[in-house]
Order: sequence, then C-alpha cells, then structure tokens
Amino acid sequence: MLCLSLVAPPPMAPAGRRRRRRHPTSVTRRGQTLAALPCHCGRRHVIGASSAAALLPFLAPPSLAAPPVDPDVVLQRVHPSRPDWYEEFYASAMDQGMKSYEAEIAGYKVKLFSQLSPAGKNILELGVGTGPNFKYYASEDGVNVIGVDPNKHMENYARAAVVSAGLASSSFTFRRGVAEALPAEDNSMDVVVGTLVLCSVNNIDMALREIKRVLKPGGLYVFIEHVAAPDGTLLRLVQGALDPLQQFVADGCHLTRRTGQSIRDAGFSSLSLDGVRLSNAYIISPHVYGVACK
Ligand SMILES: C[S@@+](CC[C@H](N)C(=O)[O-])C[C@H]1O[C@@H](n2cnc3c(N)ncnc32)[C@H](O)[C@@H]1O
Repeated sequence: MLCLSLVAPPPMAPAGRRRRRRHPTSVTRRGQTLAALPCHCGRRHVIGASSAAALLPFLAPPSLAAPPVDPDVVLQRVHPSRPDWYEEFYASAMDQGMKSYEAEIAGYKVKLFSQLSPAGKNILELGVGTGPNFKYYASEDGVNVIGVDPNKHMENYARAAVVSAGLASSSFTFRRGVAEALPAEDNSMDVVVGTLVLCSVNNIDMALREIKRVLKPGGLYVFIEHVAAPDGTLLRLVQGALDPLQQFVADGCHLTRRTGQSIRDAGFSSLSLDGVRLSNAYIISPHVYGVACK
C-alpha cells in the first residue's frame, strides 16, 4: 500500500526491537496540534514540526500583500524602447520646439511652483523631459530632484537645464522609468511634479496611484496637463481626427484625454484645479493645472 506520507519519520528503534508504530492521529507541541492530513490508507497522517514548517508556504492562504513591482519590468511593458534615432529626435524636438509654449505658460508655472517651498525638498518629476521646470526650483535651497523619464536621451538635455537653472548638478538624479511604476519608496516624496505627461503615459490611473503611493501624507502633486476640448466644439473634432497622428509623432501623446476628471477621481485629500486656453498651443489646448494634496 502506497501512503504518500508527509510524516517526519519516527526515530528508528534499534535493529531487532523494531516494531510497527501506530499512525498517530495528531502531532502536538506544547499542547498545540500542528497538523493532520487525510490519507487513502484510511489513517490520518500528521505533519511533523519540521515538515510543517517546510510546507507552510503551500498550506498558508495566499498572502494579501501585492507582490513587489519591478520598475524596469513595467518600463519594458508600458514603454518598450523606441529606435534610438526616434528618441533622440523627440528629445531634441522637445528642447527646441517648446520655447514659445514655455514663454506663455511661464506665469502659471511661477504661481504653481511658488507653492513648493513649504512642502519640502524631495521632488520627483515624472516625464521630466528636457527639464523646462528646473528654473522654477532654483529658488529652493537644497532641493533634491529625481527626474523620471523612459527616454534616455532626455537626460543630457535635463542635465544642461539643471546647470542653466543654477542648481547644483548633485541635486539632480535621472532615472529611466515610467510613471506607472515610479522608482521611489512609498511615502518618500514631498512633491511630485508632472507637466504635459499624463497625455503620454500608457495607463493614467496606474500613474496617479503611483503618485499617491510615493507622496508623503500631506505631500503635493503639482500638475499642468493638456486635455480634450469640450465635446461638440470644432477643436474637439480636429483633436479626434489628429489623435492617431499625434500619438505616432509625439511618442504616444493623446489629444483627447479627460485628465482633469482622472485627477479628480484619484482620491486626493484636497485638490485645486483650474483651466486655461493658450494661444500658442492650439491643438494641445485647453490645459488643466493645479495642486493636489495626498
Ligand atoms: C510632452 S513631453 C513633456 C516633458 C516635460 N515634462 C515638459 O513639460 O516639457 C512628455 C514626456 O513624458 C515622457 N513619457 C512618456 N511616457 C511616459 C511614461 N509612461 N511615464 C513617464 N514619462 C513618460 C516622454 O518621454 C516625455 O519626456
């Protein structure tokens, strides 16, 4: 009879004095039953303490804790590397092509970023790009900025922007990664900044969850995002028609997202959100901008 027994073998009796031991019905230690298994031999087999320990991972109910997320795995999944020439072309286009936009948005940025100082010095900027926001951090003494972007060619431009903003080079760390799996600990950041990024992420809800995860309680998420024009307008029609082309030429940027609503739905403890239309950004207009508090 084959009994697939998980019982730790009993100590062997000396030869000649061996006798058949009865299956115990349970194993106890300090009065506690450890485990007992049914077996088709009709008897109950029990698991010894050491075997039980070895089997615990299989016997225990699955852990409720989420498995750790590897940011590099998520990076490859949501933003697989584009051809090198494309990433360089896009980085250089962002560096050169956004000057008039930056001039027009500057007033809004000055107001928004003036709220950073009391919040703290640890800043994570998602989709940091070529670093157009660094000049607004320059008044902050001793800031540490982690810039996250999937496009490795953004790093050189961002480093140059750090220097021209008058920040210490050591205050900036570039991390290749995506907003959907930020390379930062839970509750570690005073501020998360994102400008013109949620249009480009693969999964906007995942990105917002990550922003909340890495922010300290009371930490601030400062954002400026372009969103879909109101339904029924000519602009919304044009955006709908151009959306596929925009995604192709602008590295996944969507013209028709309702990002303001997504931020409202994300469950921040407080939120101030405004809207504006910019004349220099016809197709990527209107914008929402504001500050959310975890
Ligand atoms: C329109 S650019 C904006 C860059 C910069 N924030 C600015 O205000 O100029 C979008 C940036 O998001 C980055 N990006 C694309 N997908 C991303 C993702 N899933 N997570 C984080 N950044 C992403 C792009 O590489 C690019 O640098």
